Amino acid sequence: MLNFSRTRTQPRSTRSLSLGGMDYADPKKKSNFVGKILLAAALTALCILMLKQSPSFNSPSPFSHHESGVTHVLVTGGAGYIGSHAALRLLKDSYRVTIVDNLSRGNLGAVKILQELFPGPGRLQFIYADLGDANAVNKIFSENAFDAVMHFAAVAYVGESTLDPLKYYHNITSNTLVVLEAMAAHGVKTLIYSSTCATYGEPEKMPITEGTPQLPINPYGKAKKMAEDIILDFHKNVDMAVMILRYFNVIGSDPEGRLGEAPRPELREHGRISGACFDAARGIIPGLKVRGTDYKTADGTCIRDYIDVTDLVDSHVKALEKAEPRKVGIYNVGTGRGRSVKEFVEACKKATGVNIKVEFLPRRPGDYAEVFSNPTKIRDELNWTAQYTNLQESLQIAWRWQKSHSNGYGTPPVMGS
Ligand SMILES: NC(=O)c1ccc[n+]([C@@H]2O[C@H](COP(=O)([O-])OP(=O)(O)OC[C@H]3O[C@@H](n4cnc5c(N)ncnc54)[C@H](O)[C@@H]3O)[C@@H](O)[C@H]2O)c1
Ligand SMILES: *[C@@H]1O[C@H](CO)[C@@H](O)[C@H](O)[C@H]1NC(C)=O
Ligand SMILES: *[C@@H]1O[C@H](CO)[C@@H](O)[C@H](O)[C@H]1NC(C)=O
Ligand SMILES: *[C@@H]1O[C@H](CO)[C@@H](O)[C@H](O)[C@H]1NC(C)=O
Repeated sequence: MLNFSRTRTQPRSTRSLSLGGMDYADPKKKSNFVGKILLAAALTALCILMLKQSPSFNSPSPFSHHESGVTHVLVTGGAGYIGSHAALRLLKDSYRVTIVDNLSRGNLGAVKILQELFPGPGRLQFIYADLGDANAVNKIFSENAFDAVMHFAAVAYVGESTLDPLKYYHNITSNTLVVLEAMAAHGVKTLIYSSTCATYGEPEKMPITEGTPQLPINPYGKAKKMAEDIILDFHKNVDMAVMILRYFNVIGSDPEGRLGEAPRPELREHGRISGACFDAARGIIPGLKVRGTDYKTADGTCIRDYIDVTDLVDSHVKALEKAEPRKVGIYNVGTGRGRSVKEFVEACKKATGVNIKVEFLPRRPGDYAEVFSNPTKIRDELNWTAQYTNLQESLQIAWRWQKSHSNGYGTPPVMGS
């Protein structure tokens, strides 16, 4: 059974319906008669369900108190691409996980798969809530005993951020503030923050180190930089442990094929290169458009540092393990190697076995020629290095999932393909 809680805040009353801990509270508002009947019926049905499914439905939720030896991690955005992979890894490593996501971009299907893999009590709960809603977030923090927060939830498309900047400042900067305030109010001491190489903008010197000046050139990068600054200022006066991870271009998916990347179809136009590559291989789009062949790079196309999601989530677990009160760690998470778009397209053709049509077009405004990381700091301090550095293999793993999930998480896997 899906452990599904819904938190939403209404003007004068708080409702909480948590199938996991089974509580229903509506203290202030006087319900009408019909409402009471409906409520009683719903509760009876629920009780029967819970009695049938859970032997311990009466005990308090294991998520609501700290347990020695168990680290309870709040994963915001855990229904999304990276967050779901992080939740899978944490669960595998025996962490207790609460996912908060409003499914605006993520997939309930991914959460369901995690629930099926880790059905035990006190392993994983999903709370449907909007991080922009400070009351809802506070309620979640007061009802759950978190030891750490991995804050993935965000909107994350550079192109979209230039068209709709407020959406970015709201859902990145302002929501991070809400999460921080809740952490402060409820004494949660460890934060692992998802940042991005977009905070560096277009530096002149490659590779990018953590000391490279941050001069973001689009609202996405600026919103993330502002969120970083807020975290760093706040951190100065409290004994919080902070890790800021600046990811480069994330690709790949779970090598065991349980999870994948399934963005909303309407976001395709803003999409990333791997998504476009798979869409082209599947024939959903006629081919790949490579924008810009006259950059000052070896083959004229842009150069990026592609980091496999399995490596990326490993860096989060290492960051969590090494996080120390009053300390802040800022790390680039990349392979340290740049690959050109042409190289990527060749790897994609080989990984999918499809001779994808490629169209070469003029440059797209706002793209920078070359971006790749210097990942020595994270190697030296967290003992992390990228393991999945074969582009074609990472794409092959992701393609396997894509091919068997032609409708993302919307349809069950197609057998035998
Ligand atoms: N994918 C990349 O290449 C990349 C690179 C650098 C940084 N990042 C960062 O990694 C994080 C995760 O990115 P992703 O690629 O998994 O994105 P994603 O869109 O797949 O996941 C984001 C999740 O956050 C949820 N969410 C968004 N706003 C919310 C809100 N207000 N309340 C509750 N939930 C909300 C969405 O529903 C979604 O499930 C983001 O912070 C992103 O900026 C991603
Ligand atoms: C998700 O959160 C945003 C605010 O960040 C809100 O505007 C949107 O309606 C929410 N989506 C859903 C499906 O609740
Ligand atoms: C982000 O914030 C805007 C309000 O600025 C809201 O309309 C939108 O739904 C939010 N969420 C997402 C995922 O865009
Ligand atoms: C670093 O990681 C490797 C494996 O990834 C491990 O074998 C080694 O013991 C680690 N070193 C330290 C100092 O923790």
